[in-house]
Amino acid sequence: MLKVAVMVSGGGTNLQAIIDAIQSGIITDTQIVAVISNNADAYALERAKKAGIPAVCVSRKEIPDRETYDDALLAAVEASGADLVVLAGFLVVIPTKMIQAYRNRIINIHPSLIPSFCGTGYYGLKVHEGVLSKGVKVTGATVHFVDEGTDTGPIILQKAVEVKAGDTAEVLQRRVMEEAEWKLLPQAIQLIAHNKVQMVDGHAVVME
Ligand code: GAR
Repeated sequence: MLKVAVMVSGGGTNLQAIIDAIQSGIITDTQIVAVISNNADAYALERAKKAGIPAVCVSRKEIPDRETYDDALLAAVEASGADLVVLAGFLVVIPTKMIQAYRNRIINIHPSLIPSFCGTGYYGLKVHEGVLSKGVKVTGATVHFVDEGTDTGPIILQKAVEVKAGDTAEVLQRRVMEEAEWKLLPQAIQLIAHNKVQMVDGHAVVME
C-alpha cells in the first residue's frame, strides 16, 4: 500500500481528483495519509475533512522564521509516514532538506508543458496568462519529480491541451484542469504505486 501525503494551498481540485480516483479504483493500493496546507483557509482542507483524511495546516503566518517553517513542514510530512509526497497546487518553495530526504519521492503537477511557462513567477493563473500573451496554440500539464530547481525535476507525464481563440486565462485554466491535470496526477500516482516509474540516466522512464 503506497502512503501518500498531499500538499495544497488553495481550492484542492487536484486533491479531489486523487480522492475520486482512489474511490473509483483508477488508483489502487494507495492511501492518502495526510493533507498538508500552508493556508488555513484553503478549501482543500474541507475536501480532506469530507473524505475523512487527516488534515493539518502549517501556516507561514504563524511561523515567520523560514528555517523553523521548513523544519515544521518536513516534520509534518515525516509524521504522516508518507512514502510519496504529492504537490497539488502547493505554492510554497519546498525546503532543500525535504527534497534531499524524499529524493524522487515528491511529485508536482504544473499547468503547462514544461519547459515552457514554468519556473519562478509561473503559478496558477499566471501560467495561463503567459500562454495567452505569447499566442501559443497548444499548452497542457506536466507531472514531474521535484528537485532543487523550480519546475526543473525529471518529467514523468505530460498531456497537451488546445488553446482556443477567445480563451481567457480562467477558461483555459479550467480546460487544462479538466482535460489534463485531473487525469494526469492520478495516473502518475497509480504508476508510482505499481513501481512503473524508474530513473534511468537522470530521466524518469514510465515502464509499460
Ligand atoms: C493547479 O492548476 C496546479 O497545476 C497549479 O495550481 C492549481 C491548483 O489548483 N500549480 C502550480 O501552478 C504550481 N506551480 P487546485 O488547488 O484546484 O488543485
